[in-house]
This record gives sequence, structure tokens and C-alpha cells, in this order.
Amino acid sequence: MKAVVVDNYDSIDGISIKEIETPGISKGDVRVKVGAAAVGFVDGLKVQGLYQTKDPLPFVPGTEFAGIVDAVADDVTAFKPGISVIGMARSGALAEYISVPSAALKHLPPQVPFEAGASFQANYLTGLYALDARASLQAGEILLVLGAAGGVGIAAIQIGKLMGARVIAAASTAEKRDFAVRFGADQTIDYTKADWRDTLRELTGGHGPDVIFDPVGGDVALQAFRSIAWRGRHLVVGFASGTIPALAFNLPLLKGGALLGVDLAQIQKREPETHARLIAQLFDWLASGKLRPVVGKIVPFENFREAFKTMQSRSALGKMIVKFN
Ligand SMILES: NC(=O)c1ccc[n+]([C@@H]2O[C@H](COP(=O)([O-])OP(=O)(O)OC[C@H]3O[C@@H](n4cnc5c(N)ncnc54)[C@H](OP(=O)(O)O)[C@@H]3O)[C@@H](O)[C@H]2O)c1
Repeated sequence: MKAVVVDNYDSIDGISIKEIETPGISKGDVRVKVGAAAVGFVDGLKVQGLYQTKDPLPFVPGTEFAGIVDAVADDVTAFKPGISVIGMARSGALAEYISVPSAALKHLPPQVPFEAGASFQANYLTGLYALDARASLQAGEILLVLGAAGGVGIAAIQIGKLMGARVIAAASTAEKRDFAVRFGADQTIDYTKADWRDTLRELTGGHGPDVIFDPVGGDVALQAFRSIAWRGRHLVVGFASGTIPALAFNLPLLKGGALLGVDLAQIQKREPETHARLIAQLFDWLASGKLRPVVGKIVPFENFREAFKTMQSRSALGKMIVKFN
């Protein structure tokens, strides 16, 4: 089969598609013919060896996918060949086939295309865990989403709206702010402007955001916290700006505010009941059509580099998708 293979941690131009052996199926495994795979910010770091954990070389990148079950181990009963599924794995999704334990798969609702399925789990689970389990976002509260047109930002907008919040989307370009409005943002802010906190104060009538969803970090995060409402909750989701901010401890004191960490990788292990509840909620929204995952740019498998480059150049809208024939 064909797969994107990382032989050495490298820039995306140094990585190519190779012919490798199709994965076998061990006890408990399901092999999926991949229809679409997602490329997120973390994938871009992983191929370069810049992520906090390193995949042992060589490896096939890609953690999220949707496709059709190709074969199952004898002891697997939950899935049959021909069924459409969504899956998550540590790596291996940017390939024509991937084998994973059956527990890593969920049934893809019939009306949901592969591209939407591959965009779904990681970002929407992160968003729901942050806004529900961590910030206890209430209907009517004001939610400020930083990096709002990015993969996880756009998911937070949609989930914030489903939870009844008023959502303000902060993004760097007019195209990104329009994209955020298309997917539910009530108002937008250009946070590259020096006076963006004044705009935020005006938009919130002096109240400030009750909850800040922050996948950006850096100076923007520090500025945002200075504007937070009394008893506000600032969700630490990521550092796409490349800088981990250092917040002076007097600010949470003065704001009666809280910094809340969010780590998708630890939810299932540390909070299995919460994980199960949130996954059930997400798949319920997905099946009923209440939540339609945003699909960013779709590129054919042969052009996988374009997916990485679009994201790495800060020009992606939503999650990048690699599509297979
Ligand atoms: N904690 C978790 O469990 C979890 C889960 C998923 C993602 N994350 C993290 O969340 C962050 C965003 O992930 P994503 O997949 O949403 O990425 P993305 O689609 O690339 O979006 C990131 C956004 O950050 C903004 N940004 C600001 N400065 C930037 C810079 N120097 N370079 C690139 N983007 C910059 C951009 O918006 P503007 O141009 O509008 O500023 C961009 O749209 C990453 O750090 C990722 O690791 C964490």
C-alpha cells in the first residue's frame, strides 16, 4: 500500500509517499481502508520531531481518519467489513490502510461524509471537554474564542453555540473572521489590532468574556486574561503562537479568575466516565445533524504536503483533510 513515511524528522518537503507493506490484523484489530485523514497542528510538529512526544522512526503520521472496514480479526464482533467508521490512532492514518484495536473505532453515521468524520473527534472532544467539563460554560455566558478559524477554534465556536453561549471569535484576517461567523460566531474581533481589548470591552458592555478558549498562547493570551470577567475561566488549550505565556499570579487574584488546563490525550485515561459522557453527547449531535463538523481544505493524498504547508503557514481555515481515492 501507499503511505506517507517519515524516515527522519524533517520539514514537510523531506517527507514522501512510499510503498510499504499493508498492515496485518492481530487479535482484537480492525483494518480500515482510509477514505479521509485529517492533518492538524500537532501532526505538523510530529513530522519535524518538534512535538513533546516523539514517534519512533520510521513512522506514518496521521491520527484521525474515516473509512470503510476492510477486514476484522476473528474475535471482533462490533464491526464487519464494508461498514463506515471513524477512528483515532497514535499514528498511521496517512496511508491507504490502517489497523487499529476495535476500541479505537466508532460507527460513522450514514449521512456523514468521510471528510467530516475525519475532522470530528479530536477537536470537538477537546472543545466539549474544555467548555463543559472544565469551564462549566452556562447558557447566556460570553465565550471568547482565540484562533477562532483554526481547527480546534472553529469546533469551540460550534459547541459554544450549542451550549447557548454568546460567542465572540478572535482571528487575524477578515477571511478567518467571516469563516467564524459562517459557523456560528455572534461577533468578531481582529486581535492583531493594538486596541482589540477596547473593542472587546465595548462588545461585552464592560463585562468581559466569562470563558476564554485559548489555543494560541503568547501575548494574546496575557492580554485576553486581563480582559476576563469576574470569576472568568481561561482555558489553556495550546500555544499555536509558539510562545508559552507566563501569567502574573496577581491577575487571577484580582479577577477571581481561573486558569484551566485541557489535554485531550489524558481525558480517557484519567476521567473515563466524563470521556464516555462527552463522546456519547458528540455522536448524538453528529447523528442528529445538530453538529456538522467543519471540513477545511480537502487535498488529494498525492498532494498531502499542501495540507501541512497550508496549516504551517497560518492560512488554514478549519481542519485540513487528505482524501484517498
Ligand atoms: N489541549 C489539547 O488537547 C489540544 C487539542 C487540539 C489542539 N491543541 C492545540 O491547539 C493549537 C491549535 O491547534 P489547531 O489544530 O486548531 O491549529 P490551527 O488550525 O493551525 O489553528 C491555530 C490558530 O492559531 C492562530 N495562530 C496565532 N499565531 C499563530 C502562529 N504563529 N502560527 C500558527 N497559528 C497561529 C491562527 O489564527 P489567527 O491567524 O487568526 O491568529 C490559527 O488559525 C495547537 O497548539 C494544538 O497543539 C490542543
